[in-house]
Amino acid sequence: MSTRPTSMTAPGLPDSFDVVVVGGGVIGLSCAWRLTERGLGVALVDPDPGHGASWAAAGMLAPTTEASYGEESLLRLGLAGAARWPSYAAELAAASGCDPGLREQGTLVVAHDAGDKAELDRFADYGARLGLRLQSMSGQECRRLEPMLAPDVRGGLLAADSSAHNRLTVAALIAACEQSGVRMLATTVEQIETTGTAANLRVSGVRLADGQPLRSEHVVVAAGAWSPLLAGLPEDAVPAVRPVRGTVLRLMTPPDYRGAEVLTRTLRGTVAGAHVYLVPREDGEVVVGATMEEAGYDDRPTAGGVWELLRDARLLLPVISELTFVEAWSGLRPATPDNAPLVGPTTVAGLVMATGHGRNGILLAPVTADAVAAVVTEDVVPDALQAFSPLRFSHAQVPA
Ligand code: FAD
Ligand code: GLY
Repeated sequence: MSTRPTSMTAPGLPDSFDVVVVGGGVIGLSCAWRLTERGLGVALVDPDPGHGASWAAAGMLAPTTEASYGEESLLRLGLAGAARWPSYAAELAAASGCDPGLREQGTLVVAHDAGDKAELDRFADYGARLGLRLQSMSGQECRRLEPMLAPDVRGGLLAADSSAHNRLTVAALIAACEQSGVRMLATTVEQIETTGTAANLRVSGVRLADGQPLRSEHVVVAAGAWSPLLAGLPEDAVPAVRPVRGTVLRLMTPPDYRGAEVLTRTLRGTVAGAHVYLVPREDGEVVVGATMEEAGYDDRPTAGGVWELLRDARLLLPVISELTFVEAWSGLRPATPDNAPLVGPTTVAGLVMATGHGRNGILLAPVTADAVAAVVTEDVVPDALQAFSPLRFSHAQVPA
């Protein structure tokens, strides 16, 4: 974060709030919006809201097609997140006047070679055991749905997974926060402030980059991949988060392109074992993603990453060669040891985690914000989030 710009906070800023939210990605913005709706005075601190991982994302709401063996509790949370999205999108559009771009055309997962097809069949069996709604299709049936698919695609699975436009979503969230009275501060939090003894710590606010203190009885940590870098936390409250770089490409269908959509629903696939996805938007954009790279806090796309994405995506949908190349963009996913988020109270009273959403932050933003609002206003962790306590990595108990 040291390379990010900081600006001084506005004169006349109150020195205390009911809640300070640290970080204005999709998670922090969603939490801040929900908390003000509950009648609380909220400050959100971020030097560049919406431009972390949330800007890089593809926006898939993909609990089913991104399900991983052994991660069934995350799958259940993802399904709850996907079920919450349509009402969340409607509430957000009404509050902000901006449409977050929800598309509910489903997702087609396809296999390229025989090994990929065997893996897809294993995944279909796994999905059937869990009761997931996956419809098996021959290669011909896949091409009937998506006529531009490569002729050698061997078969697929159709799922209900949808997508939202991540950049429109953060724009809508910023507008909703501003219109509902969240105080947006374009600076960084340098330190979390606490009071009390080591055995009985309580959060008392934050200190900003210019040294100004903001007092608050509740602080929500939503600083994405940067969450563990915040100073002032005792060791057992530092979130178990690390950055995992992901690169996506944005391609655009030329306006005169034979009058056709190149893709009508999200397409995912494996090509010689490597995963790739293509997410179409209403305006003709196609997002191609994504790499998974352990590269620390380096968020620059690499030539190799771009090449691999184009190579694999073109094998599934050859027509992408004709699209305009708009950008290659990388973001840092806030990853955890078990790939599941950290949401809820910590060892420091009043300090609430909302981080570690890894590959699913867009999907899980609505349920996370509902949970954080319940924790702050009612001191209750909703059932859906019980399994995702930050304490599972801290070996400590929440103070009474
Ligand atoms: P971020 O969006 O990274 O926001 C963190 C914010 O904290 C930043 O704005 C930063 O400026 C701020 N910050 C950091 N330090 C401080 C500080 N000290 N003081 C104040 N502010 C600070 N998820 C899905 O659900 N579906 C997808 O299809 C999907 N695709 C993805 C594709 C890629 C390539 C990547 C990288 C991620 C993808 N994800 C997807 C994951 C998703 O983007 C993340 O889980 C989500 O954006 C995390 O949101 P966040 O708000 O926690 O973090
Ligand atoms: N969920 C898609 C990604 O993280 O790349």
